[in-house]
Amino acid sequence: MKLGVLILAAGQGTRMRSNLPKVLHKLAGQPLLEHVVKAAQQLEPEQTTIIYGHGGEQVRTALQHYPLAWCEQRELLGTGHAVMQAESQLADLDAVLILYGDVPLIDTMTIRNMVEHLSQTDLVLLTVSLNDPSGYGRIVRDNHGKAVRIVEQKDATQDELEIAEINTGIMALNRVRLDGWLREIENDNAQKEYYLTDVIELAVNDGVDVFTVNPNSEEEVMGVNDRVQLSHLERHYQRELAEKLMQSGVTIADPARIDIRGELKAGKDVFIDCNAIFEGEVELGDGVTVGPNALIKNSKIAEGVQINANCVIEDAEIGANSRIGPFARIRPETHLADSVHVGNFVEVKKSEVGSGSKINHLSYIGDSIIGSKVNVGAGTITCNYDGANKHQTVIGDNAFIGSDSQLVAPVIIGEGATIGAGSTVTRDAPSSTLTLSRAKQITVAGWKRPEKNSK
Ligand code: UD1
Ligand code: CA
Repeated sequence: MKLGVLILAAGQGTRMRSNLPKVLHKLAGQPLLEHVVKAAQQLEPEQTTIIYGHGGEQVRTALQHYPLAWCEQRELLGTGHAVMQAESQLADLDAVLILYGDVPLIDTMTIRNMVEHLSQTDLVLLTVSLNDPSGYGRIVRDNHGKAVRIVEQKDATQDELEIAEINTGIMALNRVRLDGWLREIENDNAQKEYYLTDVIELAVNDGVDVFTVNPNSEEEVMGVNDRVQLSHLERHYQRELAEKLMQSGVTIADPARIDIRGELKAGKDVFIDCNAIFEGEVELGDGVTVGPNALIKNSKIAEGVQINANCVIEDAEIGANSRIGPFARIRPETHLADSVHVGNFVEVKKSEVGSGSKINHLSYIGDSIIGSKVNVGAGTITCNYDGANKHQTVIGDNAFIGSDSQLVAPVIIGEGATIGAGSTVTRDAPSSTLTLSRAKQITVAGWKRPEKNSK
């Protein structure tokens, strides 16, 4: 069966009060529409078409890395009208699934189930019963419990308004049948719109046995109309991700205070403290501890690593059993080997640090290659930038860099070398010797402190 997915995304999203098209607002770091596209792609459809209107170019640009077809709806004359715009693009298909760009949490299992039912019927509808159904189209059923019609809130009678079962808008249809029904839809209703929902009654008139399917949760079919609803879905989604992690062996201090904006893979016995944010692709090995307020982006953290409070780690690899922070910043292209210690107020950029090395306090390490078992004293700075170009610092195994040293790159510190505290090192320092550059200390005998003048 050749399946086409139509994603309606032409609405203006006025209630977002935003310059950004609604479907580009982000949930878990990703545009709403992208969530829907990803769910659709799981079904491996022949074609996925986005019906766009407001902010069209911006939407197309944001989703350009997906194989999508685009169809403009110039005037917003209703959901039925929206589908009519794409009709000519669907001609080769057997089935059509209709989704919405502002209903981001639709689950692949649910829509797969709907499409599979098309082998038995020509119309499958996704419905849900709500405590408060107001605003939605209601599902009208006959004496046998068969869905026969959808009535919009604005067109409903008092009795119909009592119906709790609502139309989510999501449906799967036989493509040839849909074609026929679309031709019969009119706009003689309260909103003077072409309602897609009219296809239900048309199908029933054609003798079609309309199937209904329910989602696993209400959130799966909830739309985003304003930022309050967006935040509700964000928290729901994050809660689900947190629960999956907990089920897989991760302890999360407070599942309401974690944000995963991308993909987080975690081993066993990982502990994640409050307010951790993970962006892009992050891997945490077994036994990793992530302290409070961590921001970790596109990084690989090997087993046993301890990340203390308030660290920022981006595009980096941290070797097993290393200890980072508190208050450390690990910047892109940094590779720390095993058992490295990077302490408070240390920034490391584009550097390799060998196993067992320590940079414990207040340092900047940039464009450097540091061997193993090196001790970098407090306040050490690699002066990697001459105002025009970046240069490299190389430090051999077992070197000891005294506190408050400046290593003016390009410079090489040999294996086992010792740099005296407070040195400005501008030339290579040989192995296994002491190098220091420091004014000699003197004591001035008989010197007196100035005293305040008397009036
Ligand atoms: C629609 C359904 C209603 C259902 C509800 C679920 C119809 C007639 N009614 O109502 O039964 O309970 O959704 O949320 O279908 N859109 C377009 N082009 C248009 C109109 C809408 O692309 O011309 C898109 C919107 O961007 C939005 C979606 O379709 O994503 C739903 O449109 P909306 O106007 O919100 O429909 P409702 O009146 O809420
Ligand atoms: Ca709506």
